Amino acid sequence: MTSFDSGQVVEARTQSIANSLALPCTGDKVYIAEDTAAAIALLDRWPEPVRPFVIGACSNLILPERIVQPCLQLGSQDVVFETIDSQNVRVRADAGLLWDSLVERCVGQGLRGLENLSWIPGTVGAAPVQNIGAYGVELSDVLEEVLVYDFEHASTRCMSLQECHFAYRDSIFKQQAGRFVILTVTLRLSLQRPFNLEYGEIRVLAEQERLSVGMVRDKVIQVRQAKLPDPGRIPNVGSFFKNPVVPLAQAQSLLEHFPGMIQYPLPGDQVKLAAGWLIDQAGWKGTRLARAGVHERQALVLTNLGKATQKDILELAEAIRRSIRERYDIELEIEPGIVAG
Ligand code: EPU
Repeated sequence: MTSFDSGQVVEARTQSIANSLALPCTGDKVYIAEDTAAAIALLDRWPEPVRPFVIGACSNLILPERIVQPCLQLGSQDVVFETIDSQNVRVRADAGLLWDSLVERCVGQGLRGLENLSWIPGTVGAAPVQNIGAYGVELSDVLEEVLVYDFEHASTRCMSLQECHFAYRDSIFKQQAGRFVILTVTLRLSLQRPFNLEYGEIRVLAEQERLSVGMVRDKVIQVRQAKLPDPGRIPNVGSFFKNPVVPLAQAQSLLEHFPGMIQYPLPGDQVKLAAGWLIDQAGWKGTRLARAGVHERQALVLTNLGKATQKDILELAEAIRRSIRERYDIELEIEPGIVAG
């Protein structure tokens, strides 16, 4: 139990940790900070010898059966809207809020910038870690700064967009896991910014007259619900592997051997491949290994078929990685975080 000058008491308890893969998991010591001030007070006098493992909605994590490292859960859920000028609004959201609740609120106010990122599971605080992205938009396109507690400096500080080192499903928060606790995320949204409708399945909206931000959100939700299994019914963590990026020469040679391979050209003679296509063509869709499975409609999604553990999921992932290496000479990288026991 940790008490503060304010009289506030933060108690740590043993509790099971809900996660979207429905893996059995117990945290030996889970601290809960109800708001940002309580979180900062707790972190300033962190009572444990090791840094906390921050748990949000656990929708992008592969959890072990027991987490010995102390955990920290942030309950803060406020959102502050600050008008910049007649077109632009700064939105500061607390880490503990569900990401899609934030998107819904912003879209409800006619604010543009987050609509393509609708219906992504997880919390606001988790969004910068993997630089969430969908349908041609990434969080880094709209992010202004992140308020963190930085254990290296033993203090809170604001990190600019540049300091976050964002890349495809990557950031400093992923690279230096454990160093930062994300407290609030500040975004810059707009009432007028053009929609991004480049991505295949939402391109149809470009022909729509008087398109509203709400209509884009609805379409994105419809596409996601059709393609990705609902974690509430079929436990999963979304895309399990990153889409690999290879040099142009390798992509051309792969295309000769595998006509029809999906390829997206990138700047700098690089090509992004669709991991889902690679796994699908290798025959994995709808298969199972022990208590883990590959979803029958989307080969990029691994599922818990009931009572699976971290080991079952990782064994299936390893079998897939091996097969992709042998078939295409490509290394697949696991996208969600793997938490040590
Ligand atoms: N494909 C197959 N078979 C499959 C799955 C996909 O042939 O079983 C093909 C599709 O037909 C398509 C291509 O592979 O031509 C790419 O698939 P899709 O459009 O479904 O997108 P993705 O590359 O699988 C990425 C993100 C998703 C994001 C969508 C939309 C990654 C790893 N995944 O998926 O992000 O929602 O694009 O932007 O970048 C996530 O990160 O959890 C996630 C769901």
